Amino acid sequence: MSRLTVRPGAALQGRVRVPGDKSISHRALMFGALASGESRIEGFLPSGDCLATLSCLRVLGVEIDRHEATTLTVHGRGLRGLQKPAGPLNCARSGTTMRLLVGILAGQPFDCTLTGDPQLLRRPMRRVIEPLRAMGAEIDDVDGYAPLTIRGRGLQGHDHTLTVASAQVKSALLLAGLYADGPTVVRQPGPARDHTERMLAAMGAEISVNGLDVTLAPEDVLRPNSLTVPGDVSSAAFLLVAAVLIEGSQVTIEGVGVNSTRTGLLNVLGKMGGRIDIENARVQGGEPVADLTVRFSDLRGVEVGGQTVVRMIDEFPILAVAATQGSGTTVVRDAAELRVKETDRIAVIAAGLQAMGARIEAQPDGFIVEGPTPLRGAAVDSCGDHRLAMALAVAGMIAEGETVVENAECIADSFPGFMALMRSLEST
Ligand code: S3P
Repeated sequence: MSRLTVRPGAALQGRVRVPGDKSISHRALMFGALASGESRIEGFLPSGDCLATLSCLRVLGVEIDRHEATTLTVHGRGLRGLQKPAGPLNCARSGTTMRLLVGILAGQPFDCTLTGDPQLLRRPMRRVIEPLRAMGAEIDDVDGYAPLTIRGRGLQGHDHTLTVASAQVKSALLLAGLYADGPTVVRQPGPARDHTERMLAAMGAEISVNGLDVTLAPEDVLRPNSLTVPGDVSSAAFLLVAAVLIEGSQVTIEGVGVNSTRTGLLNVLGKMGGRIDIENARVQGGEPVADLTVRFSDLRGVEVGGQTVVRMIDEFPILAVAATQGSGTTVVRDAAELRVKETDRIAVIAAGLQAMGARIEAQPDGFIVEGPTPLRGAAVDSCGDHRLAMALAVAGMIAEGETVVENAECIADSFPGFMALMRSLEST
């Protein structure tokens, strides 16, 4: 178990890139595996979660060449070319790997078991299993949790109305829909990230989007899709907030994905008074991308709820850190989903920041922060959650004294090289 020690540092200055987007890297691998032909992926995120997807696909018979850490070629086997694996597939700690693979495997003509680390075995799977069962899938679970055994069989198209805005659930149903006997409709309660819809459309799938409703027709063939993965805005979030909070900072992050289903934090930091410029907007790999320049700023409290929540669902731990330095009250509501992420993110961020002297109170569906409060270094625990570890490390960069983040090795699940990148920006 690794332990990260953080002391307050100098202002952050410079131009950097962050690693590739995690959601898009998973999809580029999985959808590439189902294509008929070769897809070259550049800017792939070589993180623990995405490497779990890569190794599961290899066990399903997919050849993947790694030319270097971030460039690879996927030799697609076609929609019906996956092989029955010899044993269970290990999804490690990756919820996206497990939930998207369930959708793909439901339509295969073989049985397969998905398992993972204890952390993943505690995450709810009913949200994806039940709608798949409505399509005719046969899945054995353990009271709504993994390990899951999927007994591949013929699927029927279905009209789904989701109760949770979740891109993982939406994606699983659309992937299963490729194998169904008629159209699949997914009606969402909010704008969950739409990388699946964009990528399947680029690969020739018949998919249409009408507001929050997505309709997909079954498919025989997907075209290969070579792309350069944009920088992950959810990783950029830690640099953005650090630069906003550390006096004298000015940082430009190049090539960040700015798909509007992902940019809730940019909007919220803007409302708080954060100075962030979005420049050089362009399209890369079928996704909007831009360079973000962020400067040290005075922040004020903000209210976040409703449909903004899903557009920044992974950014609440770092928003909480920003809120401790805003003047006034920050209220987050409608975010009960945070309780079923890699950890209960409401409880873990509240405990960590309280130990550092913040005034943060957990709520059933969010939290309330009173600011500004000076933070002091403390021993805090990520509880094995990568986004918690990074949020607490940024808190340590603005705290007085030394902060020790326990269980920090999980940072590599989404952002390998995070601390080194931060240090490279410290002005001398
Ligand atoms: C993801 C969707 C989100 C997000 C996760 C990645 C995806 O999860 O929290 O980090 O790639 O589809 P939910 O779909 O459970 O909200």
